[in-house]
Amino acid sequence: MNTEYLRADSIELAAIFQYPASGVILCDARLPKLYPEYFGAAKPLPTLALRAGESSKNMGQCLKIYEFLSENGVGRQDIVHVFGGGTISDLAAYAVSTFKRGCRLILYPSTLLAMIDAAIGGKTGLNHLGYKNYLGSFYPAEKIIIHSPFLKSLPKAELRQGFAEMLKYSLLADDLLLPELVSPELGEDDIILSFALYKMQVCAIDPYDRKERLLLNFGHSFGHALEAASQYKIKHGDAIVLGMNIACDFSFQQGLIEEEDWADYRDWLGQYPVPAAAMRFLDETPLEVMKPFLLQDKKNGQSLRLILPTEDGIKVVEATIGKNS
Ligand SMILES: NC(=O)c1ccc[n+]([C@@H]2O[C@H](COP(=O)([O-])OP(=O)(O)OC[C@H]3O[C@@H](n4cnc5c(N)ncnc54)[C@H](O)[C@@H]3O)[C@@H](O)[C@H]2O)c1
Repeated sequence: MNTEYLRADSIELAAIFQYPASGVILCDARLPKLYPEYFGAAKPLPTLALRAGESSKNMGQCLKIYEFLSENGVGRQDIVHVFGGGTISDLAAYAVSTFKRGCRLILYPSTLLAMIDAAIGGKTGLNHLGYKNYLGSFYPAEKIIIHSPFLKSLPKAELRQGFAEMLKYSLLADDLLLPELVSPELGEDDIILSFALYKMQVCAIDPYDRKERLLLNFGHSFGHALEAASQYKIKHGDAIVLGMNIACDFSFQQGLIEEEDWADYRDWLGQYPVPAAAMRFLDETPLEVMKPFLLQDKKNGQSLRLILPTEDGIKVVEATIGKNS
């Protein structure tokens, strides 16, 4: 399916709420209070508000969505409008993809991370049995609608999570201009679009994560392990930046990159302000605690497949760490 990536200004967004074609709304519970001008429409669509966060990406919340869709008579031709950040879109899109074998889906990402990453490319996910994104499907939305003014209410720490993924893209693509974290450009439409386009192009070449798209997982094996081992106290973007740092160190230790390249990667990643608590967790957590999460990472099969900096750039590398080593 080809996903349309569109911008909506305030008037266009209000029209979606005032004159909705059909369907229901699933949204981050914070948004109706922050944006009553939209969510307080005179004749609102049936709406289910969901609490955001990793602890909501679970089967219990998914069952709640199935019940809501069922009670409202949602059929395969009805549109489910999903407003929220990456945790809401991962959860809601998983539910929508499996309800009656899939209903129509439109995503309205409300965080920077979701606008440039999580909403794009159709990956859905629930955390299960303590593992991150253990359950999931590929189910691209038919439309992704960006309303960048949503970012005005986003706390700085959440904006930083989006910057983390931008930082990753800037290492993978030569032509992306990374804005500074503390700059107004960060939330500008053109900047968002340039990063979103990059991900869309990669996903168009490799929709099912078999080759080129795997590189977008740079920092994710270590990052997801950190998130899960910390019981999601470490936020996704912070964990990914730590994961990229660990990947660089690992590459250097394995002789895959020279010291000079290692230092360049570390310098570039050093512009990201990783919170002290996350650094402490990493310092105090032995590899043994992380290993089960690393080995269970859904991106890995029997051996540990890592995305690592090499002399030829960032590549997929099969690591020799075995299950019992
Ligand atoms: N499917 C994918 O391809 C993909 C890619 C990257 C990340 N992800 C997933 O995305 C998730 C992280 O997403 P996230 O960083 O958007 O987190 P999130 O959805 O938890 O949102 C972060 C916080 O911001 C709040 N919020 C959302 N929009 C707001 C707004 N406009 N104003 C004020 N507050 C707002 C939320 O209530 C929440 O407290 C992780 O679970 C990660 O695994 C998925």
